[in-house]
Amino acid sequence: MAFSMRFTILVLTICSLSEQTPKKHNGHFPKHFLLGAGTSAYQVEGAWNLDGKGPSIWDEFAHKHPERIIDHSNADVTIDTYHRYKEDIALASSLGIKLFRFSFSWPRIFPNGYNTTINPHGVKFYKNFIREILKYDMIPVGTIYHWDLPLQLYNDGIDWNHPGIVNHIVDYARYVIKTFPEVGIWVSINEPHTLCHLGYSIGVLAPGIKGDGKQEYMCAYLTLKSIGAIYRMYKKEFPHYKAKMAPALDCQWIEPKSNSKEDEEAANRQREFKCGMYYHPIFIGDWPPIVKERIESRRLKAHIKEPRLPKFTPEEIEYIKGSADFIGLNHYYTALAEDLKESDPNVMSYGNDVGTVNSFKPSWIVENNGLFSIVPDGVRKVLNWIKKNYGDHEILITELGVTEDGSSLNDNIRIDFFTDYICNILSAVYEDEVNVTGVIAWSLMDSFEWSNGYKSHFGFYNINITDPNKTRKPKKSAKFFRDLSQTRKLTCDKPNRDWPGPF
Ligand code: NOJ
Repeated sequence: MAFSMRFTILVLTICSLSEQTPKKHNGHFPKHFLLGAGTSAYQVEGAWNLDGKGPSIWDEFAHKHPERIIDHSNADVTIDTYHRYKEDIALASSLGIKLFRFSFSWPRIFPNGYNTTINPHGVKFYKNFIREILKYDMIPVGTIYHWDLPLQLYNDGIDWNHPGIVNHIVDYARYVIKTFPEVGIWVSINEPHTLCHLGYSIGVLAPGIKGDGKQEYMCAYLTLKSIGAIYRMYKKEFPHYKAKMAPALDCQWIEPKSNSKEDEEAANRQREFKCGMYYHPIFIGDWPPIVKERIESRRLKAHIKEPRLPKFTPEEIEYIKGSADFIGLNHYYTALAEDLKESDPNVMSYGNDVGTVNSFKPSWIVENNGLFSIVPDGVRKVLNWIKKNYGDHEILITELGVTEDGSSLNDNIRIDFFTDYICNILSAVYEDEVNVTGVIAWSLMDSFEWSNGYKSHFGFYNINITDPNKTRKPKKSAKFFRDLSQTRKLTCDKPNRDWPGPF
């Protein structure tokens, strides 16, 4: 071969190799990448009826239906953050983190849900709480609504199935925003998908409704309208505020079970029904087309007269679209979707509308309640999917975490989990150019995990719930996270880690 031809081939090979080889990262965090930890009011505060707080639907649900909570527990006292917030915030700060996520309890501020009665003790509590966060130079990330709807509103018929909820949540949000201008990042509504699916279709979260799909869709419509209305009110009435606002949208990664066309479509359908149902109206406008088509065609087949999915007016489409300054992503697992071959066309349900069956790969580690799998590159895939479908927005991961059974303080699984997941997030940032600006770990402490009671342990700190002193004991991962916050660097060289399961 003539020299010049060999040279040309060599140059071409080098060029095409460099085109194919993605930019590798060395585990360093980008300059503005922040770490944080999160909690929510009902899960940690306790003091359910103290100092003027009104009951929420969660107080009622856990009191009336202990059988629906795995260990028959409730969060009347839980880990008592109401009285121990100074210690908890100091412990958060000792992790070296910058973002402290917490939520306001609506009935601690407006005991019966209406803005006509304000509880000064509740206001004082959050004032002190936020002052403490600022004292340690952390940024308060305040969630306006994390599922604890005031019971009185619910008893008056106003919940996520009643259009009146929108004005009430805006009144409450306005008061919280005005009263706590120190909040550095606002989360308007936490996980509307989980709230609507588990609260209005499956019934395992308050208010415990087992629905035929219609209730879930109404809930989706009203949470989206609320996200839009809170955001528009915020921008209009508080133009001088600098804090960004977005909902925390849960989105898991769904892969097709096989490479058949049916399963590919099933996976896509499930992504659209779970994530797209909320991301599409907020970042593009209106429901995802496939969601509309699917629900409508099943309704027609079953000869049902009334529409099952509420229709947005053009005005609603416009005010919901763009009602987020960034994407707040809560991510917990990856699952496989398979096409559901047979479903009775006359049995109406969200599950039948989606028409998929989920499973986990046998090789994946699944936590002890069978809900969450550990698939580190799932987070990278979901980040890419979000960017591809909804545009190049800033993404703050508002929740990411893993649970264990609480039997040991040596939670190596959490250390490996955060290492591998954050390494994948760094790959998304450096190699795929997804604009992720931080990760808020869930959770700061073990606490009340909704229908899993005290059986799930998500925290960096372990608390034996039967211990009257509620002693906070650091797990091994607390030190790991502190070191990570300081070095801002991970060693990302174990793609085939041997996971220390089962957990
Ligand atoms: C999402 C919820 O926002 C949070 O409250 C819960 O503890 C975690 N998922 C873990 O299930």
